[in-house]
Amino acid sequence: MKTLFVNACIRKDSRTLKIAREFLKHFDKDYEELDLQKEDLRPLNEADLERRSELAMKGDFSDPYFRYARQFREAENIIIAGPYYDLSLPAKLKDWIETINIVGLTFHYVDDDEPRTLSNGKKLVYIMTSGGTVVDHAYGWGYLKTMFEVFYEIKDAHYLCAEKLDLQGADVDKILEKAFKEAKELAEELR
Ligand SMILES: Cc1cc2nc3c(=O)[nH]c(=O)nc-3n(C[C@H](O)[C@H](O)[C@H](O)COP(=O)(O)O)c2cc1C
Repeated sequence: MKTLFVNACIRKDSRTLKIAREFLKHFDKDYEELDLQKEDLRPLNEADLERRSELAMKGDFSDPYFRYARQFREAENIIIAGPYYDLSLPAKLKDWIETINIVGLTFHYVDDDEPRTLSNGKKLVYIMTSGGTVVDHAYGWGYLKTMFEVFYEIKDAHYLCAEKLDLQGADVDKILEKAFKEAKELAEELR
């Protein structure tokens, strides 16, 4: 699997998902999709933390808990799509992130505190839509970009966002048409 599509969209008629599908159509039709709504993902709790630490200490990453991390580790292209929720990312996307960042499996430390990747990731694309304007210092793209750069050394990182979709009088079709065009262009540039 070369391209992993992490689908963090929630609504059946998700506009974010439509833009992501347009991107994928022109980027790599042969992608693997992880639909987070269908996954039994939850925030880390103490029992999970203890269990995964024990397994990681033994270097045993065969447990099903590590399936998301193993899947992520293989992918060269990480395409993520999700709506802008509460100036942030959908919570399930954060839950997924908590399961993929595993020392000894997807990254490791050298010289005590320098993270280095153990994964194949080379490109990151984050596709988002928002009802209003995305504010500076929002916890979203900035966080994702930094996290993938620090742990996975991915510098080829791109962000596509269709904003102001829910504002009164918004021309939704026009905003989406522009986003589809941008998605196609970005896909052709990156593939
Ligand atoms: C729970 C929730 C929180 C939201 N928070 C924000 C927000 O903080 N800022 C904003 O501009 N839009 C916000 N929105 C609007 C969505 O970002 C917008 O409708 C988006 O296009 C939804 O994506 P979708 O069509 O893919 O479901 C929120 C919507 C919901 C349902």
